[in-house]
Amino acid sequence: MLGFLLGTAAICAPPQIGIPLGLGLAGVRAIAGRRRNARQSKLHTSDSEQKLEAKFEKVLANDVVEPVELLWTNLTCDLKVKDGSTKQILKGVSGVARPGRLVGLMGPSGSGKTSLLTALAGRVPAGSKLSLTGSLLVNGSPADEAGHRQAFVQQEDLFYSMLSVQETLKMAADLRLPQQMSAEAREAYVKQLVGVLGLAKAIETCVGDEKTRGLSGGEKKRLSIGCELVGSPSLIFCDEPTTGLDSFQAEKVMSTLKSLAASGHTVVASIHQPRSSIFAMFDDLVLLSEGQPVYSGPADQALAHFEALGHHCPEHYNPAEFLADLISLDFASPEAEADSRARLNKLVAAWRAKEATAAATAATAKKAAGSSSSSKDMARAASTDLVMRRAAELPRAGPLRQLRLLLVRSWRQVVRDRATNFSRAMSNLSSAIVFGAIFFRMRTGQSSIQDRMGLLQVASINTAMASLVKTLNIFPRERTIVARERARGAYGILPYLSAKLAAELPVGALFPLLFGAIVYPVCGLHPSLPRFAKFLGILTLESFTSQALGLAVGAVAPSTEAAMAIGPAVMLVWIVFGGYYVNADNVPTLFKWLPRASLIKQAFEALCVNEFPGLTFEADANGGGMRTGEQVLSWLSFDKSTIPARAASQARILLFYYWATFCILRASAPRYQTVRPDASPATSVPTPAAEPAKSAIAPAATAAMAMPAAAKEAAPAAVKSAAA
Ligand SMILES: Nc1ncnc2c1ncn2[C@@H]1O[C@H](COP(=O)(O)OP(=O)(O)O)[C@@H](O)[C@H]1O
Ligand SMILES: [Mg+2]
Repeated sequence: MLGFLLGTAAICAPPQIGIPLGLGLAGVRAIAGRRRNARQSKLHTSDSEQKLEAKFEKVLANDVVEPVELLWTNLTCDLKVKDGSTKQILKGVSGVARPGRLVGLMGPSGSGKTSLLTALAGRVPAGSKLSLTGSLLVNGSPADEAGHRQAFVQQEDLFYSMLSVQETLKMAADLRLPQQMSAEAREAYVKQLVGVLGLAKAIETCVGDEKTRGLSGGEKKRLSIGCELVGSPSLIFCDEPTTGLDSFQAEKVMSTLKSLAASGHTVVASIHQPRSSIFAMFDDLVLLSEGQPVYSGPADQALAHFEALGHHCPEHYNPAEFLADLISLDFASPEAEADSRARLNKLVAAWRAKEATAAATAATAKKAAGSSSSSKDMARAASTDLVMRRAAELPRAGPLRQLRLLLVRSWRQVVRDRATNFSRAMSNLSSAIVFGAIFFRMRTGQSSIQDRMGLLQVASINTAMASLVKTLNIFPRERTIVARERARGAYGILPYLSAKLAAELPVGALFPLLFGAIVYPVCGLHPSLPRFAKFLGILTLESFTSQALGLAVGAVAPSTEAAMAIGPAVMLVWIVFGGYYVNADNVPTLFKWLPRASLIKQAFEALCVNEFPGLTFEADANGGGMRTGEQVLSWLSFDKSTIPARAASQARILLFYYWATFCILRASAPRYQTVRPDASPATSVPTPAAEPAKSAIAPAATAAMAMPAAAKEAAPAAVKSAAA
């Protein structure tokens, strides 16, 4: 906050104060940044560190996948509701995900699948209305200390739409793989990734969006998985990877996840209602309904569990459909709802009882097993963690490299997005034609004074609005992509913002230039080449300022819709104080700063100062009226104004919005909450009661699983009982 205020003061103060203050601020930040970098690079210079890096490169080359076991116990998620009460979204859910196994997380819509995945991935935002309690262990250590590598593939696929599959993956690799890796190694890595994802045929296809055809839904999903796979995570979460896909595409996506599991990854995928062939891919199954656990264990034993409770799945029936129907509430009628709720309550109670029995058995088994073997396993897990923790800290691309990569990406996005550029050009062209028709060849009568002022005002409003709306339409979405990439530690805000602005300036300038180049001659504005050039310059600068306002609004607004509501409302204030509707001299003292902060006013005033001096007007019928342009400027209270002064003010507003955008984006860096230990004694631990099924994973991973399941499962319960 202090940084923001000092920066704002530097922008608003007169140059003799603002420039030294700004330079000082930049200097302090640069020194702080260097110190941070030096601390980080110290961490990565030792011999053993280099060995670790070599090991990480091996991990990257997919020679090995570090085995990761995720164990969650009694996970509860509370949501603070407006009236002060709390709603439980997850109610004491327990389970385990093991290396080499694909866990299917199933449940009706709203049952808490996304919430559970978000909690397991440690992505519940800090300071939100949600609070998380329970225990979350990775290889026996608290998840937030384990330093394991993980990926979270969210439900919505978001990309830079104009980049090809190859470019998207290469970008992710260039930004996130260690700098030590050679270009060839990186290329080979991307190639291998494309093979794993089955995207070889679509390698040159651009991702596409609503306006441009591109990848199919399934290909997009696989690309999302691919982007998350860069950096070789051991643990992969995937939220509804098949939703919105046809069954063929869904099957392909799930096969990709299955093969990742088969190569040693721990994969957890939520899915609403899979077809039977997809259900058959699950090694383990977690069933949720209304945030409560109904089953958690090997998928092939789920039907037997429910059979024992009196619910038989008919032969040749899709088990997934059977289970979905069994655990869903039926809202068709009050009776149906009561019936289904009673059934669900029984199922939940039966599962809780089974969990309690398993907990008791596990505690006994732990005593019998003694501590020696499990402590060995823990030591192994700890050494694995060390490798992964250090690997996660490896330096990424440096700021200059980030800047270059991001510049190329933004440039490609802007230049290739023909549909957007075409519609922007058409919109500016049509406005220019409409204004040209209305204000065609203005003469020099008294009424033309008002026409000129009106034209200059609408030209500045039109330019600002066009630029604002375009930015508001695009930026909130882009911000989400950036937030995701930053959550993976890909780059900093400064290189991102600088690259974006630099890449967009040339194309962004074309549209106000096109508009101005038509309107100026057609409407018969002051016939002078230098003034024409200044007219274009003023509009272009204003367009950039408006884009910067759009960025600042887009950075705070939670969605595109919200941004589209806030942006024009803010612009309306700047239009009211734009110099045409309210004379700055008449504005109450309290609001005097508003015209000065209005980008419309700065542009309008500059356009008037450019237009009126030197013009003479004919007298009205009574021989009166304003006869010279200077009189008009005096009437508008613009007589002491100059174009350089207005341009300087406009540049300050522009800088302020850029600065605000930077500060907002930096402050909104993703921060997540950790799971608070539950105060109540643990009553449940995950089964499966049975031995885990055999899986095709590396020997190290099987070693992790060889640790007696019961002993491992008892650990969190013991910890939590101690806490209580
Ligand atoms: N941040 C949140 N704010 C308000 N309600 C939430 C939030 N997160 C989840 N919920 C509520 O929790 C329930 C479970 O949501 P979710 O985990 O998205 O279910 P699923 O993914 O199974 O469809 C829903 O009723 C949803 O409205
Ligand atoms: Mg969901």
